[in-house]
This record gives sequence, C-alpha cells and structure tokens, in this order.
Amino acid sequence: CLTCVGKILADIISTVEFNHTGELLATGDKGGRVVIFQREQESKNQVHRRGEYNVYSTFQSHEPEFDYLKSLEIEEKINKIRWLPQQNAAYFLLSTNDKTVKLWKVSERDKRPEGYNLKDEEGRLRDPATITTLRVPVLRPMDLMVEATPRRVFANAHTYHINSISVNSDYETYMSADDLRINLWNFEITNQSFNIVDIKPTNMEELTEVITAAEFHPHHCNTFVYSSSKGTIRLCDMRASALCDRHTKFFEEPEDPSNRSFFSEIISSISDVKFSHSGRYIMTRDYLTVKVWDLNMENRPIETYQVHDYLRSKLCSLYENDCIFDKFECVWNGSDSVIMTGSYNNFFRMFDRNTKRDVTLEASRENSKPRAILKPRKVCVGGKRRKDEISVDSLDFSKKILHTAWHPSENIIAVAATNNLYIFQDKVN
Ligand SMILES: *[C@@H]1O[C@H](CO)[C@@H](O)[C@H](O)[C@H]1NC(C)=O
Ligand SMILES: *[C@@H]1O[C@H](CO)[C@@H](O)[C@H](O)[C@H]1NC(C)=O
Ligand SMILES: *[C@@H]1O[C@H](CO)[C@@H](O)[C@H](O)[C@H]1NC(C)=O
Ligand SMILES: *[C@@H]1O[C@H](CO)[C@@H](O)[C@H](O)[C@H]1NC(C)=O
Repeated sequence: CLTCVGKILADIISTVEFNHTGELLATGDKGGRVVIFQREQESKNQVHRRGEYNVYSTFQSHEPEFDYLKSLEIEEKINKIRWLPQQNAAYFLLSTNDKTVKLWKVSERDKRPEGYNLKDEEGRLRDPATITTLRVPVLRPMDLMVEATPRRVFANAHTYHINSISVNSDYETYMSADDLRINLWNFEITNQSFNIVDIKPTNMEELTEVITAAEFHPHHCNTFVYSSSKGTIRLCDMRASALCDRHTKFFEEPEDPSNRSFFSEIISSISDVKFSHSGRYIMTRDYLTVKVWDLNMENRPIETYQVHDYLRSKLCSLYENDCIFDKFECVWNGSDSVIMTGSYNNFFRMFDRNTKRDVTLEASRENSKPRAILKPRKVCVGGKRRKDEISVDSLDFSKKILHTAWHPSENIIAVAATNNLYIFQDKVN
C-alpha cells in the first residue's frame, strides 16, 4: 500500500537520487538546478508527518554554455547526480550535464564571524586611518543557512554527451561515460583523467554501436559494466589492462528470429544498467522490458519482465513521434527483491522477483491527495474495456516516467513525472 507523502512542482526533472541513508533526496532539472530535499525528523506528536521531505537547499549547478570551436550550444540540463558517502559535517555530490562534471559541497552554517578589524559589518573595507584598536573577532549564532559551493570542475574530457557518472567503491575515483568513451577520474585531480574504454572506430562510418550507460560494481573497485545501443552489456576488469577495450564478460541474449522487425535494434537498446546492492546481479532496461542478469551467466538473463508489452503493436507510431527513443531508467529496492521502472501515461511498474507479482501504479494529482492509497491501474488491449481500465489508444505518451529512485532501506520511492516530483511511502497503519 503506497500513499503519497509529498508532491513538489519543479522544472522538468531530469534525475532523482537518494543519498546512502535516504535522508536526503537530490533532483536535477532541465534548467541546470539541483534541489536537495531532507526528510523530516520524527517527532512524537506528528507521527503521520514522518517521511515528508522538505526543501533543504537549491542551487544552480550548470549554466548554458556555447562551444565556439564547434558552434554548439551546451545545455545546462543535469543528466545525473551521484552522492558521495558522508565523511564530515558537509555533504558532497557529483552533478553532470552533457560535458562537465562538478563536485559540490553542501554545508550548513549557523554562526557568523563578527568584529573584523579591516572590514565593517557589511564587508566594506574600513579606512585604515580610523582603525585605532585591535579587536578579536567572535562567532555569533545566526539562522541556519545551507551553502552549496563547487569544489571541483572536471571539464574538457568528453567530445560526446555524458550519459553516466558512477562513484567507485574506493571513494577516491569515479567514472564518466559518453557515447563512445569512458573516463576514470580522481576526485582530487581535475586537469587529467584516464580513458578506460574507447569504442570510437578510426572511420566513423563504421560506427555500429554506442555506449548508453555505465556503472561501477558496488563492492569491487576494479570492476564495472557498460551497456550499449545493441542490447549488450560488457563487464570489464581494470586489473586486466589500463584500457579496458577487451571485456571480461559479455552479456547478450540471442534474438528470437520470429520477432525480428524494423524496430528490433531500436527497442533492444539498453537505456539503463544497475548493479544490485549485493553486487551479484545486473539489471538492464530496454524499451519494452527489464532484465535481470546473473554475473555468472552471460548467454541469457535469468529474469525478463514485460513493462508494457501492449506497445509492441504501436511501435510504428512510437517511432514517428520519437517516443521509441525515450530512455527509461530502472531501480532496485533496498533488498534487491523488487524492481521499479517507468512507462507512459504517468504509469510506473513494480515487479516482485520472489512472488512474481507485478503492479502498474500512477503518479497523478488525484493520487497525491493526503493519505490516498495508490490504486493499481490496468491497461486493456482490444476487446471489451472494464470500468477502471484504460485502453492502449487513450494512453498519453507525453506523460512519461523516466526517472525514479528507491530509498536504500525503506519502502519510500521518488517518482519524477515531468515537472512533478512525487514521493510515495508504505502506509503506516
Ligand atoms: C545522508 O544524509 C543524512 C542527512 O540528513 C546524513 O545524516 C547521512 O549521513 C547521509 N548518509 C550518507 C551515507 O552519506
Ligand atoms: C595538473 O595540475 C598539476 C598541478 O597544477 C600539475 O602539477 C600537473 O602537471 C597537471 N597535469 C597535467 C596533465 O596537466
Ligand atoms: C517475442 O514477442 C512476443 C510477443 O509478441 C513476446 O512475448 C516475447 O517475449 C518476444 N520474444 C523475445 C525474445 O523478445
Ligand atoms: C523491498 O521490497 C519488499 C517487498 O515490498 C519489502 O518486503 C522489503 O522490505 C523491501 N526492502 C527494502 C530494504 O526496502
């Protein structure tokens, strides 16, 4: 039973990410902003309010830029956000647009220094002739202020568009992946990165495949995976060689020849790849399905879930309106037993891997009324339509849920529906 505990209106949301304990939730948007939400602390007289997320900090992470050499506009849209584990009082996160990754420090301030010698209280320099005594500055309490400061800017290393960033489990390095290359960075060094994957052919006319997503293994700092537009996944081991052009494992499901069509290649492109928390499985999302792969079995996934198989007959119109190129993400719940991913008409899907039950839910204004419980939705294909079913032909393809996040240890989910962010949580009795 999921109930809405928050709905936030924003610019078009382009990424959502909980921090490692789930107390903070960051969103990035089309306008280059990052908004961080903090979970309300539990209080005795307001038990029902537990779980609400309130705005904690908002800052402009990226600005629109112009690449004069290539005569190209660089959008400010935030493609991905990744949190670093907390090490001191401040929080750190990485945010990226198409070209530049930034490391942000978010810290609280509730004291302000007062009594400078060379400046007055407004910060203006004082005339030295008027300074006759020496004062000792003191810290005075003030209203809590949350400041975001850019600590590092990792620029000029990507010719193509960055689709993924992933923090390594050594917490000293991270990688950034674009269409043809993956780079490895040290958090301390901004003027140099190591190219660890390069699939750019010498002759660009021979290009048949691009990198669509990449992620580090959650526990083994030498291992990472990347997915491709051909529906394949490569597992690489950085210990094997500096340039991981030769993979260690190659995951691919042979195509069913009876299903071959003009759209086969497009719909098999992988839009997201995620390691399970345990590190044993990888999950991939393609246009119509979510697949779970066992790291020890490369020739086929161990589980395949149909997200919206009723669209199989609609591929032609989805190609014409470009929806077929939508990049849906997928997430695990904290114990890797449930999978969530988005669909159209503001629907999102959950698949329980143990019970094999699945459900379609809707993130809508109606469902966000206080304590309203999310009702399962059903799409009907042809034939007679029952009362609360919706027919395939009346689905709204402009309402798509591409980005979702699952709290690392509780049943709390964040669902981005265009410019609304919904937070749903398991109903407490
Ligand atoms: C997540 O954010 C909360 C702040 O509300 C903080 O207490 C916690 O340490 C953070 N967790 C990690 C692992 O960074
Ligand atoms: C990066 O900057 C450091 C410090 O400024 C410098 O020592 C180093 O040579 C630079 N590396 C490259 C590759 O430019
Ligand atoms: C082939 O298509 C059918 C539905 O038309 C689907 O159920 C099946 O999963 C498809 N096979 C593969 C390998 O995608
Ligand atoms: C994952 O989902 C299952 C089924 O809803 C639930 O029992 C379990 O507590 C969830 N795990 C976490 C860590 O949220």
